[in-house]
Amino acid sequence: MSLMEVLRGLGRAVAHEIRTFRGALYRRIALDPADERSVVREFHRLYFDARAFDMTWRNTYFMGHAVLKCPLDLWLYQEMLHSVRPAVIVETGTAFGGSALYLASICDLLGAGRVVTIDVVERRGAPAHPRITYVRGSSVDPNVVARVRSEIGGTSPVVVLLDSDHRRDHVLAELEAYAPLVSPGSYLVVEDTNLNGHPVEPDHGPGPMEAVEAFLARHPEFAHDAGMDKFLLTFNPQGYLKRLR
Ligand SMILES: C[S@@+](CC[C@H](N)C(=O)[O-])C[C@H]1O[C@@H](n2cnc3c(N)ncnc32)[C@H](O)[C@@H]1O
Repeated sequence: MSLMEVLRGLGRAVAHEIRTFRGALYRRIALDPADERSVVREFHRLYFDARAFDMTWRNTYFMGHAVLKCPLDLWLYQEMLHSVRPAVIVETGTAFGGSALYLASICDLLGAGRVVTIDVVERRGAPAHPRITYVRGSSVDPNVVARVRSEIGGTSPVVVLLDSDHRRDHVLAELEAYAPLVSPGSYLVVEDTNLNGHPVEPDHGPGPMEAVEAFLARHPEFAHDAGMDKFLLTFNPQGYLKRLR
C-alpha cells in the first residue's frame, strides 16, 4: 500500500469520526434528554405490548425454540457470558427451553459451562442438550435450592438468571436463596424489572423492580451494572446485578 493510499484511508476515517461526532453533538444540543428518554419509553411499551398481536417477544425463537426475551438482552447475555465464562448458569423459569438452549449454545462457543434450569411446569418439546440439566419444582422450594447447590458443587464462576414468577415476594425469596451462589465478579440478573410501570404493565403490582430495590438496600455486595443500559432498550432495567465482593 502506497503512502498516498494510507493517507487517503486515514482521511476517510477521520471524516467518518467527525460526521459521527457531529451527529451526536447535534442530538445533545437540539434534543432535550427528557425527549430521548420518552422516545425510548414509548418504543419499550410499543415493543412489549405488540406481543398481543403475536409479535416481538411472543414470536421470538432460538433454533426453533421460543425465547420470551428481547433480543437486545440476549446479546447482553452473550457479552456477559464471554466476560465471566461461567462454569454454571442457573436459570429460574425454563418455559419452552429456548433461553436455556441459547445459553448452552453460547457455552458451546466458549467451550465451557452448563445450564441448570428450573420450572414448576414440564412442557413437551423442550430442547435436549448435553449442557442443559432440567430441574422440576418451585425455584424457592428448599429441596430445589439444595439440588441446584449440589449441581454446582464446588465449581465457579456461577451466573444466576431469575425469570420465573414475577411477583415481588417470590423474586425477593429467589434473590435471597440464589444470591449466595453467585461468584464475586459475576452476575445475578433479575428479569422483567420493566413490569409494574417501569415502563410496562402499570397494573402488574409489585414485581421484580420492587424486589431489586428491597434486595439492594440490604446487599451492598451487589450493584446494578450501568454498562448494561448501553442498548437503551432492555426488559431488565436496573436488573443486571454484579457481585462486587
Ligand atoms: C417468563 S417464563 C420463562 C421464560 C424463559 N426463561 C425464556 O426466556 O424463554 C416464566 C416461567 O416460570 C415458571 N414458573 C412460575 N413460577 C415458578 C416457580 N415458583 N418456580 C419455578 N418456575 C416457575 C413458569 O412455569 C414459566 O414457564
